Amino acid sequence: MRKKRRIFCTADSRFIAYKIIIVNDRSPVKGKKRLSEKVRYSSMENMKILIVYATNSGGTQLAAQIVQETLVKHSLTAELKEVRDTSADEFAGYDLVILSSPSWDDEGAEGQPHPDWRPFMEKAKGKDMSGKKFAVIGLGDSSYTYFCGAVKILEDFIKSLKGELLTESLKIDGFYLDQQKSSLQLTDWTDNLASRLQGAS
Ligand SMILES: Cc1cc2nc3c(=O)[nH]c(=O)nc-3n(C[C@H](O)[C@H](O)[C@H](O)COP(=O)(O)O)c2cc1C
Repeated sequence: MRKKRRIFCTADSRFIAYKIIIVNDRSPVKGKKRLSEKVRYSSMENMKILIVYATNSGGTQLAAQIVQETLVKHSLTAELKEVRDTSADEFAGYDLVILSSPSWDDEGAEGQPHPDWRPFMEKAKGKDMSGKKFAVIGLGDSSYTYFCGAVKILEDFIKSLKGELLTESLKIDGFYLDQQKSSLQLTDWTDNLASRLQGAS
């Protein structure tokens, strides 16, 4: 007869719980009479992340989806929204907000965020988001004078809200030129972001 015991316990104030499964001597697994498995759960599961993006040719949307999928693999809840459908007041419902934009010419100036970011930033002016965690992703092309210029503009916007940048911003050069490399950069960056978020929680 097979015996299964499950023990759930709360290990510390961060609600880290361990699930221990013990299968007894008569386990059907040959040569393995006893199997002990430890699965770690944490408060990460309760964290909500919002990824706000704008795009012209779809690259930033794809990049945002890769980040979302990676966060979900870390057992985090991640939502995607286009900036034109988002208001800064919604940030209050999230533990981390990731802003992402390509860089484009705007009214004759290079290195600008997607034009949908302008009205959004204007509307959010003067808001106080002290302590709110943010991160930034930029897509661009290093053949332009202001490579990923939008990143600095979004970082300054976060500063103006008194927000906190959780990690160094990610700049992707030529997203479509080497999508495999771009995807890897995005997943690596997101893995790092997830561990920082865990460390900061
Ligand atoms: C007209 C035009 C202007 C651009 N200006 C810049 C720029 O100033 N700086 C930069 O880094 N990339 C620039 N790029 C490159 C885009 O940011 C890059 O192709 C990006 O991946 C596009 O993202 P999207 O697919 O989300 O629109 C420009 C591209 C075009 C077509």
